[in-house]
Amino acid sequence: MRSFAFNQREQSHIDALRRQFSALFSAEFQRLLVGMSRASINSTSSSSESIAEPETGVGTEQTRRTLLLGALATTACLGCSVQARAGEDPPGSDERPQKGDLLVFSEGEQEGKLITSADVPLGGPPVHAWPKDPKTSVVRSASRLNEILLIRLDPAELDEKTRERAVDGILAYSAICSHAGCPVTAWVKSDVGDKDVFKCMCHNSEYDPRAGAQVVFGPAPRRLAALPLVLAETSLSVAGNFIGKVGGAQPG
Ligand code: FES
Repeated sequence: MRSFAFNQREQSHIDALRRQFSALFSAEFQRLLVGMSRASINSTSSSSESIAEPETGVGTEQTRRTLLLGALATTACLGCSVQARAGEDPPGSDERPQKGDLLVFSEGEQEGKLITSADVPLGGPPVHAWPKDPKTSVVRSASRLNEILLIRLDPAELDEKTRERAVDGILAYSAICSHAGCPVTAWVKSDVGDKDVFKCMCHNSEYDPRAGAQVVFGPAPRRLAALPLVLAETSLSVAGNFIGKVGGAQPG
């Protein structure tokens, strides 16, 4: 049987599409469950044409249904925010990035390899990374909230506050959209300008890394969390905790 080999760029693109599809599916599944839950409540309310307490039997059934849907929604939400691999992951692999952590590629042919400043191309596209504990060699990949976007930009393009945080023009941000928690996978021209921006394809939110990843388009309620960096010889290292909240504000 004929087999195909992909180059690094193609493999990264495939990985990004796979993650995006999975996140979009999760977000839409949550939206469906929330919709079912609301429909359930509305149909019960309209049948009684009253907002007063429902009859006991109806209330019990409604509560059971709501609890069931709530549990399913919660399960879906957990599946979206944290990879369900408990029991298999080494200690520390789901902890947020710690000061002194190194960074490794999270996808592609170089997955798991240490990232040096030379690995981050000027002007993008962003490199996707996991933090790695240098003492235990544990990669903190058990929580998708730990995935990081590394982007190198001309310091002259950065606003003052963002420039102070840049290391060789390199900036690190959470890869998780602040809207509903999909991964931010695209580096494309903005819908509202001529510059390339981070874009979440679930609902098209855009973030400008030159200005602290502030939202420039779409429904996202806040900027991406930023991760301070330092250069440890040629490798990139984490200098402190995330600045700002990581993760989505609401289910899809
Ligand atoms: S989850 Fe990213 S825009 Fe909605």
